[in-house]
Amino acid sequence: MPVTIKTPYEIEKMRIASQLAADVLEMIEPMVFAGQKTGELNKICHEYIVNKQNAIPAPLNYHGFPKSICTSVNHVVCHGIPNYKEKLNDGDIINIDITVIKDGYHGDTSKTFFIGHPKKETKKLVEITYECMKEAILIVRPGTRLGDIGYTIQKIAEANGYSVVREYCGHGIGKIFHEEPQILHYGKPNTGMELAEGMTFTIEPMINLGERFVELLNDNWTVETKDKKISAQWEHTVLVTKNSFEVLTKRPDESF
Ligand code: MF3
Ligand code: CO
Ligand code: CO
Repeated sequence: MPVTIKTPYEIEKMRIASQLAADVLEMIEPMVFAGQKTGELNKICHEYIVNKQNAIPAPLNYHGFPKSICTSVNHVVCHGIPNYKEKLNDGDIINIDITVIKDGYHGDTSKTFFIGHPKKETKKLVEITYECMKEAILIVRPGTRLGDIGYTIQKIAEANGYSVVREYCGHGIGKIFHEEPQILHYGKPNTGMELAEGMTFTIEPMINLGERFVELLNDNWTVETKDKKISAQWEHTVLVTKNSFEVLTKRPDESF
């Protein structure tokens, strides 16, 4: 399947789905506290998406994924499965990844939250990971190449002594959850496909405090760091515009 260029009609649908996903992250924020169970976060988000937004939580049954959101705590890199045994503790971090389908189109976004009082090194990892995503978004425009995006992220992460997860990447998005192109979070400047107006894709770097290596658990979903050091992630769905970009999943507290 080739890279799709979205029509103005499709872009409006993407905007709507993306803003619903962003809204779920805002809605859930006050529920993210020490003592909370990840299964409860899933239940609240599921009911909100289905009953309030009249939308579909894309992860549910996606290639067999059993829940409506992904919750990835501390050394879980991505695709953590919410459950009622796992309780959040003071000092933890949790990435909540929301993808909704509205009118056939997907919006995909995630945020890493702090629980109570994080250690200094934890706070810095999460902040630098946001900076990696943000700086990569800021160079999006027609003519920017995929390698430029990867390089921007890798450079910032490694300058801070962190590592970039390579096994999972951003992706084109539209009617299909994961479509071409793959958006790698590492790479070389001036290499790879050129961006063009009307492309929509995610940028979602996973940055590790320690080494880059990951391990897939027996549940066939949960991805952890091999060294069990923490990992952070942020994700936005982005549109390439005529001269620049639009962050379709932008929240009101963010500036781009
Ligand atoms: N939302 C994730 C992403 O950013 C994908 C989750 S797939 C699932 O691409 F099946 F694990 F939900
Ligand atoms: Co994604
Ligand atoms: Co996502």
